[in-house]
Amino acid sequence: GVCGAPREILTVPPDQRQLPLSPGWFMMRMDFGQRDIPPKMLLANDLPPSRVEIHPLYISVDPYMAFHIRNAPAYTTPQSYSVVEVVRCSDICPFAAGTRLMGAFFWKEAQIWAFADLPRMSPSGKHLLLPKELPANVDPSHYVGVLGMPGWTAYAGLFRIGRVKCPGETVVVSAAAGVTGAMVGQMAKILGCRVIGTAGTDDKVRHVKEVLGFDDALNYRTHGSAEAMRLA
Ligand SMILES: NC(=O)c1ccc[n+]([C@@H]2O[C@H](COP(=O)([O-])OP(=O)(O)OC[C@H]3O[C@@H](n4cnc5c(N)ncnc54)[C@H](OP(=O)(O)O)[C@@H]3O)[C@@H](O)[C@H]2O)c1
Repeated sequence: GVCGAPREILTVPPDQRQLPLSPGWFMMRMDFGQRDIPPKMLLANDLPPSRVEIHPLYISVDPYMAFHIRNAPAYTTPQSYSVVEVVRCSDICPFAAGTRLMGAFFWKEAQIWAFADLPRMSPSGKHLLLPKELPANVDPSHYVGVLGMPGWTAYAGLFRIGRVKCPGETVVVSAAAGVTGAMVGQMAKILGCRVIGTAGTDDKVRHVKEVLGFDDALNYRTHGSAEAMRLA
């Protein structure tokens, strides 16, 4: 669908401006009309020096993107954590063709990046993490899930911010059926904590208890958070 007026991407590497050639699923400029054109045909045959062509395999659709869809002030550029595959390089390539990388890339079927411009920083700009070459024996979709940003968020929230000690402590997780809450609860449970979750429907509550293995859960719409704390 079209979400508001077209808006230019604020941070577009020079290569992307020179070669706006492949179908792009930008948040505000969804060029769905071009999707039937094979990306290869749209790319220049000869890449400029020190460039790599990548194609996304998995793109993460995260809640923070709502800022971009609403055209509201955002703390990130409209990029998304993705698992991409290296297709080719222009000259001496730091990656073999077929290498899978993770990082914050654009919503584009085919992208050309200067080696030096490949996104290497976390969204806060503080951590030199990305891109990371992925081991061949791990399902690459995990890198937009448990081994990607949702997993890092859950881990950091629980152990670095919350400083939770498992076993021995009780963890109460709100939004427990969401991707982050589900991971927080499962991590705490695996390490032996008692885990209580809250969620917005009875189906989600069942999922939290029966599938995710929380010790208990309740529907915050019918019970409220205070009751979750009492339950804990
Ligand atoms: N995913 C990431 O990598 C990531 C990274 C950094 C920060 N975050 C932040 O972490 C939070 C959760 O993200 P997520 O990725 O887990 O999202 P998600 O999978 O979409 O889950 C969000 C959950 O929030 C719950 N929710 C909505 N309104 C609520 C309310 N008023 N009170 C309590 N719960 C409510 C919904 O469940 P109910 O129907 O049960 O209410 C929904 O399942 C967001 O604030 C997000 O910005 C996520």
